[in-house]
Order: sequence, then structure tokens, then C-alpha cells
Amino acid sequence: MGELTVRAERPTDAAAVRRVNEEAFGRRAEADLVEQLHAAGKVVASLVAEVAGEVVGHILFSPVAIEGARGRCDALALAPMAVLPAHQRRGIGRRLVEEGIMACKELGHTRIVLVGHPEYYPWFGFRPAVRYGLRCAFDAPEEAFMALELAPGAWQDCAGTVRFAPEFAGV
Ligand SMILES: CC(C)(COP(=O)(O)OP(=O)(O)OC[C@H]1O[C@@H](n2cnc3c(N)ncnc32)[C@H](O)[C@@H]1OP(=O)(O)O)[C@@H](O)C(=O)NCCC(=O)NCCS
Repeated sequence: MGELTVRAERPTDAAAVRRVNEEAFGRRAEADLVEQLHAAGKVVASLVAEVAGEVVGHILFSPVAIEGARGRCDALALAPMAVLPAHQRRGIGRRLVEEGIMACKELGHTRIVLVGHPEYYPWFGFRPAVRYGLRCAFDAPEEAFMALELAPGAWQDCAGTVRFAPEFAGV
């Protein structure tokens, strides 16, 4: 494998990002979602992984709203994330998650949620979201719905129902 670079997505990456998502998921829904989130101005952070000048991976963070008993608070959703099949299982996904989390932290965010593989994300500090008093507004398996705090106690006053952007309805 050539050298791996992770950097912010640029407008000129749009076609490559579409391809990575389409090939990784084997359908168009996630690639469409990425374009819809960009068009709606809902992208907080979007990073690409490059090997030998080719975009082989992508990760995106968008805002979610949490509606709790004591009002509303905000967090980010990590989704989608994709690595081209030929480049998977070499740690590219891990680098994208690590650098993505760092980018969110630098922007001042303290809470991230996701729906994903329950064995993979605890490595980065994600825990079952139910432990923070969170429930997913759509029907996700409980163990797949996970949350991360980027500051101690960040979820303490932020329990409730997590609502993803309406653009996620298509995936
Ligand atoms: C999920 C996805 C992004 C992970 O990307 P990736 O680059 O393969 O991720 P990593 O290499 O960091 O880790 C994946 C696995 O490979 C293993 N791995 C990492 N580096 C490795 C290496 N050098 N040698 C062997 N295995 C390795 C990890 O332990 C992990 O194992 P696990 O799945 O048993 O937990 C990728 O598989 C993908 O695009 N899948 C399809 C789309 C999808 O489901 N996205 C997530 C939902 S939004």
C-alpha cells in the first residue's frame, strides 16, 4: 500500500466520494445522502483517505438533535463511512474515525453518535448509547446504536431521543 493521507474533503472530490460510497455499500443511497447533506449545508466535517493520489475512503459528520425531558441539545452523527472494498481491513477506516473525531473535537464538539458494527467502534471509545440514556428515533438494533463523549460528562444533561437529519430517511 502507498502512503495513506487523510485530509478534508474538497469540492473537487465529489465524484470520487460518490464512487467510494457506492462501491463500499453496493448501492446509491449513501452516496445520495452525502450529496444531500452537502447541498443542505449540514456537513460539519467530511474527510477523505487518499492512497497514491486516489480517494479510497470517506467519513462524514452531520448534526443531530436530541430531544430530552429538559429540552433540546446537540450532537454529531458519524455517518456514512466507507472504504473501497479493495482497500478494506488495512486500518484506513480506523484512521478516518480517529482523524474525524479529532476534527470534530477541534471544532468544539463534545458528543458523537452512530449506528454501526458493535464490535468495531468501542475501540474508539464508543459505548452503547442506551447507557447515556439515549434512544434512536428510528428503528436501530440497540447494540448498534452507540455514543462517544469527547469531554468527561458530556452526555450528562443530554439524554433523550436522537433525531438524525431528515436526509437520513432514505438510507
Ligand atoms: C466499515 C468500513 C468503513 C471499515 O473500513 P476498513 O478500512 O476496512 O476498517 P479497518 O481496516 O480500520 O478495520 C476493519 C477491520 O479490519 C481489521 N483490521 C484493521 N487493520 C488490519 C490489518 N492491518 N490486518 C488485518 N485486519 C485489520 C480491524 O480489526 C477490523 O476488524 P473487525 O471488522 O473484525 O473489527 C468498511 O468495511 C466499509 O466501507 N464497509 C462498507 C460500508 C459500511 O458498512 N460502512 C459502515 C456503516 S456507516
